[in-house]
Amino acid sequence: MTAGPATGILPADAEAIAAAADVLAGGGLVAFPTETVYGLGADATNGEAVARLYAAKGRPAFNPLIAHVPDLAAARALARFDAAAGTLAQAFWPGPLTLVLPKAKGCAVADLATAGLDTVAIRVPDHPVAQALLRAFGRPVAAPSANRSGHVSPTTAQHVHDDLAGRIDLILDGGPTAVGLESTIVACVGEPRLLRPGGTPRGDIERVLGRPLADPPGQHAGEGPLAPGMLASHYAPKAALRLDATAVYPGEVLLAFGPRPLAGAKATLNLSARGDLVEAAANLFSHLRALDTAGATIAVMPVPHEGLGEAINDRLARAAAPR
Ligand code: TXA
Ligand code: MG
Repeated sequence: MTAGPATGILPADAEAIAAAADVLAGGGLVAFPTETVYGLGADATNGEAVARLYAAKGRPAFNPLIAHVPDLAAARALARFDAAAGTLAQAFWPGPLTLVLPKAKGCAVADLATAGLDTVAIRVPDHPVAQALLRAFGRPVAAPSANRSGHVSPTTAQHVHDDLAGRIDLILDGGPTAVGLESTIVACVGEPRLLRPGGTPRGDIERVLGRPLADPPGQHAGEGPLAPGMLASHYAPKAALRLDATAVYPGEVLLAFGPRPLAGAKATLNLSARGDLVEAAANLFSHLRALDTAGATIAVMPVPHEGLGEAINDRLARAAAPR
């Protein structure tokens, strides 16, 4: 492994925030304070930056990420708000509430950041540093909590440094976070539903809505299937997938990897012709979607399991699972 970046911690003054926005614009990774926990930010519209973010966290799977924006107007460019979503945004933004909403047409968030779902999670943080960074950058910032996978969420810049030094470009120090636990997540795709309890109490949300929130999926026996994209479940192609293909069968389309794509497919898309796993991760969901329109089985060439390959193979295995 090559040496990672020397990760600086800068007090979050105007100069440091401008530098952080430049790092994001260049596809780099910046940890920044929000009112809940520190987030690890990447340009949400840049699939390769998002791929590097997963690699830095060491996540063995691509979970969808929250897109952070400075205000409701910026959020409306990304997602469709029904009446309940509009009410909740007015009442609780900025603040520790994340809304999962149907993607708007032309939503600029990269497919990898939403893990291929047709919904997007959006949050407007209530922290002066997060606000200043989002306004300086001018694009949505994908940010999971700034910890290594499996570790607890960081509430100080030092926690972030302990966990991620050498793996990210910059840490903005804005002091300890006020809330200390993650945002509450509510899906407004049909009936408003609580997906994760967090910094905004359920009772406050229900009072504003004037009705109870539905429970997280899987809480009620006999509950019907959920609308696609409702859960952080998985993007599932309609077509069958055949993994680790070493030949293409008649009628198949091919999801290739590397410089020597197999011959004989009706259509081929290559995750990365140069065999680069960051590029492959950035292309994964959009290529699957594009190949899924042909109604043919998708043969998938082997992808190495190291680094981001673990998460790529995890998603491919889920997409290939019988339904
Ligand atoms: O307070 C917070 O929310 C912090 C700060 C940094 O903003 N962020 C945070 O992100 O906790 P993360 O990645 O640790 O948790 C995001 C959660 C994950 O459980 C993910 O599955 C869910 O949000 N999520 C994201 N997009 C989703 C979607 N389209 N549908 C359902 N769940 C989604
Ligand atoms: Mg987390």
